[in-house]
Amino acid sequence: MREWDPRTAAATEITSLVALLNEVSAVDLPDDPLWQDGRMRDYLAVTMPGERKMMWLVEENEGDAARGVAPLGAGSIILLGDIGVIEILVHPKARRLRIGRALLTEQVRVALRKGFTTLGVEVAGATTAMDFYRAYGFTLAFTEIRSVLRLDTVDWFSLGDLAAGVGAGYQIEFYADGPPEHLITPYAAAKAEVRDDYDLGDLDLRPSSYEPERLLASLRTLAARGLQLYIVVAVQEKTGEVAGLTEVVVPAQRPGRADQYDTVVVPRHRGYGVGRAIKARMLFELRSAEPNLTEVQTWNAAVNEPLIKVNQELGFVADRQWLEYEGDVVELAASLGIS
Ligand SMILES: CC(C)(COP(=O)(O)OP(=O)(O)OC[C@H]1O[C@@H](n2cnc3c(N)ncnc32)[C@H](O)[C@@H]1OP(=O)(O)O)[C@@H](O)C(=O)NCCC(=O)NCCS
Repeated sequence: MREWDPRTAAATEITSLVALLNEVSAVDLPDDPLWQDGRMRDYLAVTMPGERKMMWLVEENEGDAARGVAPLGAGSIILLGDIGVIEILVHPKARRLRIGRALLTEQVRVALRKGFTTLGVEVAGATTAMDFYRAYGFTLAFTEIRSVLRLDTVDWFSLGDLAAGVGAGYQIEFYADGPPEHLITPYAAAKAEVRDDYDLGDLDLRPSSYEPERLLASLRTLAARGLQLYIVVAVQEKTGEVAGLTEVVVPAQRPGRADQYDTVVVPRHRGYGVGRAIKARMLFELRSAEPNLTEVQTWNAAVNEPLIKVNQELGFVADRQWLEYEGDVVELAASLGIS
């Protein structure tokens, strides 16, 4: 095992990591499209300002990755706020050999050294990763449902009705690369308001951007990671407020499947068809902006019934649970025998 820095890694090492991702994905998420090498280095290396990321590789023979052989395992930790967000991938042919444990041990050591108290991890439901994290004392903090919409199943005529079915007084607007200058402040304000309104218990492993400065930084980071952002906003004509917004990114690393990150409707604008209209409009825009796109995936809190209902109307199909586990660093160190 060695520490590995994607910023300086040889191009063949990046390709080897893509191979590992795809071997893991084929077993754990067999319906997901495969990863490509397009801008994978940027995807792995770039973090938000202020975040620090460390990675490790486990190879069967030294130099395997540089020779284009998929490593046996890879792990990362992103240090953000007071939480360390980890990821561990072990090649299906090398499981139950304690490689996962060895990677977790490095991550816990770093967290201890830097004084972090909690580790968080996102785990795909119905995979062995649940057993692994539970074995070391991680507990379930939050459950989301991932849903997938196949664009070839969309009924574009009915979708047109949904897109147009918004109450009077709202303007629906589409932008590539994020909100224009004049909408930055109201856009960030809408996000902040919804965060205060909804405490869904999310650990915030993917922090959203609530202040204009942070919003701009996160837009720059998305672009630098090779993620093409599209947004649709509902602007209340009378006040200029952003009443609702939805964000989709199309990753250069997996251009067939887009991620719908965030959809929010500010509480006082609920009940006017805004949520449905912005999501429907987004699908129309994606169809022309991204002709190679075949699917959109999205995550909702299991308790967020209004959004789940909107997704069903649009044709999203629930795929699997997505679980956030968290572990106490001191307890993890004890269970791994780290002093
Ligand atoms: C979870 C994962 C990292 C575990 O790696 P691993 O090297 O096989 O795990 P280890 O050998 O270190 O296992 C340590 C302990 O975890 C538990 N564990 C791991 N796999 C388990 C399984 N399949 N069933 C039950 N317990 C399991 C056991 O307690 C094990 O100890 P033991 O073997 O002495 O009983 C690996 O299965 C993996 O990469 N999964 C996919 C992760 C992922 O995120 N996929 C989706 C993204 S594409």
